Amino acid sequence: MIHRFETVDSTNIVAKAMALEGAAHGTVVLAEHQTAGRGRMGRSFHSPASAGIYMSVILRPSCPPTALMHLTCAVAVTACDAVEEALGWRPGIKWINDLVAGGKKLAGILTELHIDPKTGLVDFAIVGIGLNCNQQPEDFPSELRHIACSAAMISGHPIDREPLICAIIQRLQDLELEHKKPILQRYRSDCVTLGQEVDVIRGDSRRKGFALDVDSQGALVVRFEDGHTEAVDSGEVSIRGQLGYV
Ligand code: BTN
Repeated sequence: MIHRFETVDSTNIVAKAMALEGAAHGTVVLAEHQTAGRGRMGRSFHSPASAGIYMSVILRPSCPPTALMHLTCAVAVTACDAVEEALGWRPGIKWINDLVAGGKKLAGILTELHIDPKTGLVDFAIVGIGLNCNQQPEDFPSELRHIACSAAMISGHPIDREPLICAIIQRLQDLELEHKKPILQRYRSDCVTLGQEVDVIRGDSRRKGFALDVDSQGALVVRFEDGHTEAVDSGEVSIRGQLGYV
């Protein structure tokens, strides 16, 4: 079932309310405009009317939350597949949840798990995707202009959002999360963070390192300047390339 709205605060919030009311696996919430689009780590997601795709999908995988550590990675690869199918070019992935093209952010992914307190299993997951489609550079607020791009800017012409929406929905509903190893292998090959000098930002601390790998849980394995290697978890840190956003 696909629910289309003109304006919502956040499609993730609307989808969560629907899931709590029993909405089925595969239910989609789409909006033309979000007034309070949310990103990872409490950030906002700029969601101007009719310029992007703002979508959340309810998944009901019925497994322990530990079996879904790779969910954001799986959604990122799936979104890259959908862009490639609909637009004919493939974005990269900036660990952990950004799709990037031309060194700038094209899309963000926000996955949220809801656990059944009685069973300890996942009751549902909300997979939110925000994808910039028809903005031009001047349409982004000045603080985003140097780090954000749109599909139209990369394609060189305005894009039709509908085939892209269909490709994303189809692929998310068919997501086979149990195939963790091949999903993570595909994630590694799309991930432009790997092999880069990065700044690992945790609160006020900023440490320099080299991104070596993505482990079996989706954590980024970084060798720091003092020589020690650590798997950094996406819950706590964000990454900046030392030469730019990516
Ligand atoms: C990020 O950049 O950290 C993630 C951004 C995710 C944005 C999408 S837009 C649709 C869905 N609803 C939200 O409020 N957020 C996600």
